[in-house]
Amino acid sequence: MNEFSGKVAVITGAGNGFGVEFAKACANRQMKVVLADIREDDLQKTERLLKEMNCDVLAVPTDVSIYEQVAQLATKTIEHFGQVDLLFNNAGVVVPGPVWEIPMNDWDWIMSVNVNGIAYGLRAFIPIMLEQETACHIVNTASIAGLLTTPSMAAYHTSKHATVALSESVNYAMQAKQANIKLSVFCPGFVQTNLHHSDDYRPERFKINPSEPYYQSKTFLEGLKRAQHVINTGIPIDSISQSVFTAIEEERFYILTHPKYNPMIGKRVKDMLEGVIPSVRIFSS
Ligand SMILES: NC(=O)c1ccc[n+]([C@@H]2O[C@H](COP(=O)([O-])OP(=O)(O)OC[C@H]3O[C@@H](n4cnc5c(N)ncnc54)[C@H](O)[C@@H]3O)[C@@H](O)[C@H]2O)c1
Repeated sequence: MNEFSGKVAVITGAGNGFGVEFAKACANRQMKVVLADIREDDLQKTERLLKEMNCDVLAVPTDVSIYEQVAQLATKTIEHFGQVDLLFNNAGVVVPGPVWEIPMNDWDWIMSVNVNGIAYGLRAFIPIMLEQETACHIVNTASIAGLLTTPSMAAYHTSKHATVALSESVNYAMQAKQANIKLSVFCPGFVQTNLHHSDDYRPERFKINPSEPYYQSKTFLEGLKRAQHVINTGIPIDSISQSVFTAIEEERFYILTHPKYNPMIGKRVKDMLEGVIPSVRIFSS
C-alpha cells in the first residue's frame, strides 16, 4: 500500500502507546481514522489530538476481547466512512508470572485480548476488505516475545507466538486467494509505552480479585517491577510509526525493531534444527 491520503485506517489500542503513534502517523498522511480502545478517557485524548491535526476521526469505545464489540466497530467504520483500507490490530496486555502460579482468570484475560482480539479483528474486517477488492493492509501487533521465549512471561509469550502464527496463516490464505490484502506482523522489542500499566485496562470480568494471594506474592510484585524496568528502559517510541509505515509501503511481512535480537532468533531456529535443548532464555532491553 503506497497511497494513504483519503484512505481509512482503524486502530485498536488507540488510547496509549503504539496506538497513538499509529494514529498520528495516519493523520500526518491525511488518512481518515477510526480509533478504538477500552479506555474511554484515553480514547478521547487521542481523538482530541487528531482533531487538532485536522484529521477526520471517529472514536468507538471497544473491548477487543468481545466479538460483538469488534463487529460493531466494523459496522460503525463502514456506516461513517464507507470503507476500510488499513487495520491495526494492536491492543494488547501483559501479565507476568509462571503458568502454574498466575490465576486462570489472568491467563484467560491475556488470551482474550492478545489472541481473540486479533482473531476478532480479522473476522470482522477481512470480509469487508475482500468485498471492496481495493488495496488493503493489516498490521497485527505481536512482539519479539512472539519469536523468542523467556522463563517469566509464559502467557504473554504464548499469546504473541499465537499472533505470529495467526498472521502467517492468514497471509498464506490471502496469497492463495490472490486477495488484494497484505499483512504484516509487528514484532517490536521493548519500547517506552504504558504497557506495564496493563492492569488499568482490565475489563470488568477480568478485574483483579484482591483476596487472590497471587497479587501479594513475590512472583507477581517482582514481575511487575521487571516489566516496569524493561518498558521504561526500552527505546523511545518516536521512530516506531515510521518503521511500520515503511514496512507497509514495502509490503514487508515481519516488522522487527531491535536488530540485537536477530542472532537470538537465529540461535533458536538452529537449536530446533539441530535437536538441541533451547538455550535462548534471557533477553533484556
Ligand atoms: N511496549 C513494548 O515494549 C511492546 C513490545 C512488544 C509488543 N508490544 C505490544 O504492543 C501493543 C500495544 O501496546 P503498547 O506497548 O502500546 O501498550 P500501552 O499499554 O501503552 O497501550 C495499549 C492500549 O491497549 C488498550 N487495551 C487494552 N486492553 C484492551 C481491550 N480489551 N480492548 C481495547 N483496547 C484495549 C489500552 O487501553 C491501551 O490504550 C500490545 O499488543 C503489546 O503487547 C509492546
